[in-house]
Amino acid sequence: MTAARTFFVGGNFKMNPTTYSGVKALIDDLAAADIDPKAEIVVAPPTLYLIPAAAHLATLKPSFTFNISAQNVYSKTNGAFTGEISPEMLVDAGIKYTLTGHSERRTLFKDTSDTVAARTKAALDAGIKVIFCIGETLDEREGDKTMSVCEEMIKAVVNVISEKDWANVVIAYEPVWAIGTGKVATSAQAQDVHHQIRAYLSANVSQNVAEATRIIYGGSVTAANCKELATCPDIDGFLVGGASLKPEFVQIGNARRA
Ligand code: PGA
Repeated sequence: MTAARTFFVGGNFKMNPTTYSGVKALIDDLAAADIDPKAEIVVAPPTLYLIPAAAHLATLKPSFTFNISAQNVYSKTNGAFTGEISPEMLVDAGIKYTLTGHSERRTLFKDTSDTVAARTKAALDAGIKVIFCIGETLDEREGDKTMSVCEEMIKAVVNVISEKDWANVVIAYEPVWAIGTGKVATSAQAQDVHHQIRAYLSANVSQNVAEATRIIYGGSVTAANCKELATCPDIDGFLVGGASLKPEFVQIGNARRA
């Protein structure tokens, strides 16, 4: 079953590096690396650098699928929305992916399940693929609310996109307590949630979507812990923050390689 889902590793650079030359160096190093040709690698630099990063990547010849992603996108095409960028702008810039609903957007910038769903739908309608992020806080996990929180976030998207849209969605399960903390979920914890997310998709979208949708894990993924996580049947890859800025990102891209 997992064989049908292409292994996916995203690098979320967040608000790093602080120069374009730094972004370019990360892309150059990755494109030249010996990464599993069966893996799909997508990196998300800061918005300001998307256009030169994509243009530069187009001049390189990586031996694996390598794309650039935005870190967020707005739900409207154009207008009086200071500070936002639209899906149509990403299309025009040749950007193929965007993140939506990253926990830092939800907590620091007050995105809600509904605004994340609207951003997700707008991106998909414009032809942008989405890495849709969900996950619970430590309080929610300790209060046994992990699945109700994740399901509420997914439901908002299920309500506004069509069954065929799911072909262009990757779900990133990122427990908030694991992001940037060095406290990675155990493979049993991650597998359990991924399995339940797949069951939710099966019950609320379709069995086909449940089997085909990639569900990736994020939160303190490193070269040291990625191999074990990658053996779990419902873990189809990773969304990597801190380690995506380091040489070990190559090893994470190779987590499934024999
Ligand atoms: P981290 O971040 O790998 O630094 O924990 C993951 C993310 O925020 O996507």
